[in-house]
Amino acid sequence: AMAQKEGYRFFMEKEIYEQSTVIGDTMLGRVLEDRVEFEELDPSLFEGIRSIKICACGTSYHAGLTGAYLLERLAKIPCQVEIASEFRYKEPLLTPDTLFIVISQSGETADTLEALKMAKRAGLKSLSICNVDNSSIVRESDATILTRAGIEKGVASTKAFATQVMVLWMLTLYLGQKHRTLAPETLAKELDAMRHTPRALLVEEKLHEKLHRLSKRYLHGHGFFFIGRDLFFPLALEGALKLKEISYLHAEGYPAGEMKHGPIALADAELFTIALMPKTLLYDKIKSNVEELSARDATILAISPEEFELADDFVRTKNGDHPMLEFFEMMVVTQLLALEISIRLGNDVDMPRNLAKSVTVE
Ligand code: G6P
Repeated sequence: AMAQKEGYRFFMEKEIYEQSTVIGDTMLGRVLEDRVEFEELDPSLFEGIRSIKICACGTSYHAGLTGAYLLERLAKIPCQVEIASEFRYKEPLLTPDTLFIVISQSGETADTLEALKMAKRAGLKSLSICNVDNSSIVRESDATILTRAGIEKGVASTKAFATQVMVLWMLTLYLGQKHRTLAPETLAKELDAMRHTPRALLVEEKLHEKLHRLSKRYLHGHGFFFIGRDLFFPLALEGALKLKEISYLHAEGYPAGEMKHGPIALADAELFTIALMPKTLLYDKIKSNVEELSARDATILAISPEEFELADDFVRTKNGDHPMLEFFEMMVVTQLLALEISIRLGNDVDMPRNLAKSVTVE
């Protein structure tokens, strides 16, 4: 087993480090000089489509939430995201002008597979975003975009998430260019940022070392709040999920602007707030949300390219040019934080209690 881990302590750690390379595989032959191309997609799949519904579970659901922000903002397509186990029993109203997208690492998640079958019975066209070729979900859907993350062993998903988000970003540009909803200058800027993603995902030794040192201060407390806005809200949800899965500590992801509507009542020095503070998206808004928490004495770990004076701890990120580059860099920070906390607590990082890599029963 040690050999397969190639010197890393856990598969999850290895998979975090792999992200920078596998994301290149995800883009290979798809991200071209002036456009995004998917050879595997028949353009007729999008004929008559006026909206998108995304359905998934767990980490894949968080990728879906991220994709919805991108699809609406850049491709101008109305997009809704639902948890598969909720979708199945709500008697959803489905119309054939909706493209049904399912996201699944394994391609075998029972709730997601059943949601897909329901959508097909209702006459919707379907597209799956999967990591495992020839899986049940791939076979059941009209079309598939493979994420190409390679085998993921850690139960806590890392590189699969990164590649799912990348596929959704690419799909956004693809639809934006196809429907001409994306201005050529914007498309060029997005493509340029996209090509820098492998660099944003590189794990620097100094950063990992910093999170290792920091993690010892975050082993107790009565809870963690991961907060962010816009794209960084689903990233906050995912950061909290990672921490819960492998540390067994209580963590919640919250949209920062909602804290004042209830959760801020919990704020005291034992409340750990992990604040995602990108420079390129609503910086002043999130800053004032974090200031409110700091005024209530919450302990703040700020992740940002901008120095934040009220932070108890500060992790400086480097990418302040594009929201998605900030997204991927901050994603790595939250993954390493969860990893280091879990290791300090002596947990089995790759096989957390009560969890399975793939949930094939309802
Ligand atoms: C399980 C895994 C999660 C995963 C979820 C959805 O609960 O432990 O890591 O996000 O299933 O899995 P899928 O294979 O459909 O992405």
